[in-house]
Amino acid sequence: MAKVIKGGTVVTASDIYEADILIEGEKVVSIAENIDVPDAEIIDAKGCYVFPGGVDPHTHLDMPFGGTTTADDFETGTRAAAFGGTTTIVDFCLTQKGKPLKEAVSTWHKKAAGNAIIDYSFHLMISEMNDNVLNELPAVVQEEGITSLKLFMAYKNVFQVDDGTLFQTLTKAKELGALVQVHAENGDVIDFLTKKALQEGNTSPYYHAVTRPPEAEAEATGRAIAMAALADAPIYVVHVSCAAAANKIKEARALGFKVWGETCPQYLVLDVTALEKPEFEGAKYVWSPPLREKCNQEELWAALRNGSLQTVGSDQCSFNFEGQKDLGKDDFTKIPNGGPLIEDRFSILYSEGVHKGKIGLNTFVNAVSTNAAKLFGLFPKKGTIAVGSDADIVVFDPKAERTLSAATHHMNVDYNPFEGMKVTGEPVTVLSRGEVIVQDKQFRGQKGRGHYLKRQLFQQY
Ligand code: URP
Ligand code: ZN
Ligand code: ZN
Repeated sequence: MAKVIKGGTVVTASDIYEADILIEGEKVVSIAENIDVPDAEIIDAKGCYVFPGGVDPHTHLDMPFGGTTTADDFETGTRAAAFGGTTTIVDFCLTQKGKPLKEAVSTWHKKAAGNAIIDYSFHLMISEMNDNVLNELPAVVQEEGITSLKLFMAYKNVFQVDDGTLFQTLTKAKELGALVQVHAENGDVIDFLTKKALQEGNTSPYYHAVTRPPEAEAEATGRAIAMAALADAPIYVVHVSCAAAANKIKEARALGFKVWGETCPQYLVLDVTALEKPEFEGAKYVWSPPLREKCNQEELWAALRNGSLQTVGSDQCSFNFEGQKDLGKDDFTKIPNGGPLIEDRFSILYSEGVHKGKIGLNTFVNAVSTNAAKLFGLFPKKGTIAVGSDADIVVFDPKAERTLSAATHHMNVDYNPFEGMKVTGEPVTVLSRGEVIVQDKQFRGQKGRGHYLKRQLFQQY
């Protein structure tokens, strides 16, 4: 049955206008004033914004990390994402040194297929560079449609790669038409500072931040950009947390370098003092890079406004406080890094950004959806509301007020880092490929309905 979303204000990355949207099957087929189709199901959007479904370019679901596995898997994570207004994710597929890439990709397909509720794709982690990896990469990029590769410049002795591996990957990625992403922190410096902190008896969560200073992030960001420039390859910096790193990206872009950057809601809203919470509660706020001094936030918002950062990812990587975060009770290095944000990314960015006047509606849509779809080869199927695009749509009540809490969120984790925070604006109806998966805040989707998305090669935009 056709569906008409009626009476709302459609917001895309470039426009804001009143219109109805006609959906047939999985696609938007018409956008016009006063669409009347006999027997169509009407979705009332009066007083609401009608946004493209969120595209979250940075999630870790069902991922082993820090001696444990994330609390959310593809079923619970994507259900929570749907409640929050996100209809597409790109998750990180981990690889292991000495093992074929295709084995890793197949493992990630098994985790997602039959479980994911929304559409999904994968970035591929590069943990080493050698002939086997070079030989396998063309098939990964061209046949699997995995057109983005991820390298960690931190997590020494776990994921960290050396500069040679990064440079070779950039060179190969350019040849194949893939986009390289980096977690930019100087892992060697962090390793030194961490050992020193522990030797001095500094074991509490706060020392996670002390040992990962902004300079270590800015240095790695600058180094990655320099190597991308040497390889004449594009580069995307994930989870930019501080002004010093954002400025490296801004300066490089001003010089015409092909650099893009992402930040995350936690860096826009929370600050380093959260790590000092008593009773080990600081562990709930352990991310890498760490939360920063509050003064960085205005600069990150400005970077979103002026376009030097383009996306806001959730970096969803949830671990329960009890049984997982507490692995690091006596040693902050054993606290699994990461937090739950797949559900609240969209609403936090709207409430703290648009509602509080820090960003406009079009910037919001760009950051929460369109730019990620463009950078990661999903546009215009995803990331916009247009005739021919997938009907991935969020009817959003901008006046609704609520309080974020673990008691009401849908993520499979026992705390919410934004517990008690009041937000204005809420997704009320969410459609994925024309199917209503959340209606009046009730779940209507089914486990396993999400499709794997093969992505287009990287196109500079
Ligand atoms: O602390 C974080 N960011 N955890 C997830 C893994 C990563 O580095 O992105
Ligand atoms: Zn990272
Ligand atoms: Zn991450």
